[in-house]
Amino acid sequence: MHILILNGPNLNLLGRREPGIYGAQTFEAYLDTLRRAYPQVQIDYYQSNHEGDLIDRIHLAGYGTDANLSNHLSENDGSNSSTPFDGIILNAGAYTHTSIALHDAIKAIPIPVIEVHISNVHLREEFRQHSYISPVAHGIVVGFGIDGYRLALEGLLNMLAR
Ligand code: DQA
Repeated sequence: MHILILNGPNLNLLGRREPGIYGAQTFEAYLDTLRRAYPQVQIDYYQSNHEGDLIDRIHLAGYGTDANLSNHLSENDGSNSSTPFDGIILNAGAYTHTSIALHDAIKAIPIPVIEVHISNVHLREEFRQHSYISPVAHGIVVGFGIDGYRLALEGLLNMLAR
């Protein structure tokens, strides 16, 4: 099983960014624990602050090199796979609330995407209450802190086993 965890803008600062909301743990430390708990799953991780970059990664995860990306991602970057992944766990950060392009990218790929939010966005500002990702996500995990990624992985693995 080959899963991509994809984090969007500002999530590189987990552990330092608003720890009262997002917790004190870095994603790298959490990922280490997650990988050790699921040795049977190959978990790739990618974070970007750039919308187009996230779209490229979604295409690559969905189609491998058949995604036909004409940029450097297709050839040089060792972190991408030439074969499709089985699923994506996506925390699109603030792009969740703004990005029709990410919505379309998810719609365009044949693998399931689970939407994750560390905080309960519905308890927060009104602008966080709408998600362009939710209508195209196969599942949603919201408000369980950083452990939401593990919950999403559990759900995704169950979904893929059905
Ligand atoms: C977030 C919630 C978003 O509203 C916010 O912009 C983030 C993180 C979360 O994980 O709770 O960057 O996706």
